[in-house]
Amino acid sequence: MKIIKNKNKLIKLIHKEKNLGFVPTMGAIHLGHISLIKKALKQCQKTIVTIFVNKPQFHNTSDFKSYPRLFNRDILFLKRVGVNYLYLPKDNEIYPKGFNKKIKISSFKKKLCGKFRPGHFEGVVDVIDRFIKIIKPSRIYFGEKDFQQLKILEHFIKINHSNCKIVACKTIRDKNGVALSSRNNLLNNKEKIIASKIYKLILQKKIKIIKKKILLASIKKEIFQLGADKIDYVKVYNVNKLIKPFKKRNNYKVFIAYYIRSIRLIDNI
Ligand code: PAJ
Repeated sequence: MKIIKNKNKLIKLIHKEKNLGFVPTMGAIHLGHISLIKKALKQCQKTIVTIFVNKPQFHNTSDFKSYPRLFNRDILFLKRVGVNYLYLPKDNEIYPKGFNKKIKISSFKKKLCGKFRPGHFEGVVDVIDRFIKIIKPSRIYFGEKDFQQLKILEHFIKINHSNCKIVACKTIRDKNGVALSSRNNLLNNKEKIIASKIYKLILQKKIKIIKKKILLASIKKEIFQLGADKIDYVKVYNVNKLIKPFKKRNNYKVFIAYYIRSIRLIDNI
């Protein structure tokens, strides 16, 4: 695995690659990330991973500062799976002229996480746009765990980088059902059990929630009783009607975002 910290060196190294798969991450690599990487390794000649904790997508500095950074462990993990290139840029390589606040993205950015984290999706789309311009991948891999992010990026990439194919990958969960996330590193064992109970509650009641046989208010109450400290949202959406062109078939999912202590967790079930 070649580890590159300099943009120009990277461009020289990869510019001849014809079938390059790209997996962007913020590190603290877990089996969710690895599932994306394995798919890229299978589908592409070479695979590049980036680790970049992207400041503009964090809505407060304490969340940015406490985000887990486990670079040495990550490097070992990525080498073992067979990643070809790892790009670890510094802030000034990605943002030589500061942040681009004008980026235009789908209005779906205003719902769910976008409502509670203003500017978050602009920050995500901006950094992915910058990475695609540097790396020019044939395929880019995103997880359904961050469903709203996936949909917004799909829409943006289709319009702005039509040569790059988007590959959506299923959510990977631990044995108790909790969606793997770098933020899970910040939870203690008791808190992981709370997250698992919340997942199981939603899974068990999903049909009733979708059919409106249970009020969202009563689900929220149960989530608090299980130990959540704050809830941003519990919402139902038909995921085939989020961003045009709409598909005919209905596919409903329950979206949740809640806090255990100051740790924000999201899922879609
Ligand atoms: P990060 O949270 O590190 O996630 C990187 C990629 O891994 C995303 O596409 C995410 O959806 C996927 N992923 C995370 N947990 C997963 C799981 N349990 N199962 C399947 N896929 C999972 O998402 C980001 O970073 C950033 O916003 C980024 C896109 C890199 C832009 O900065």
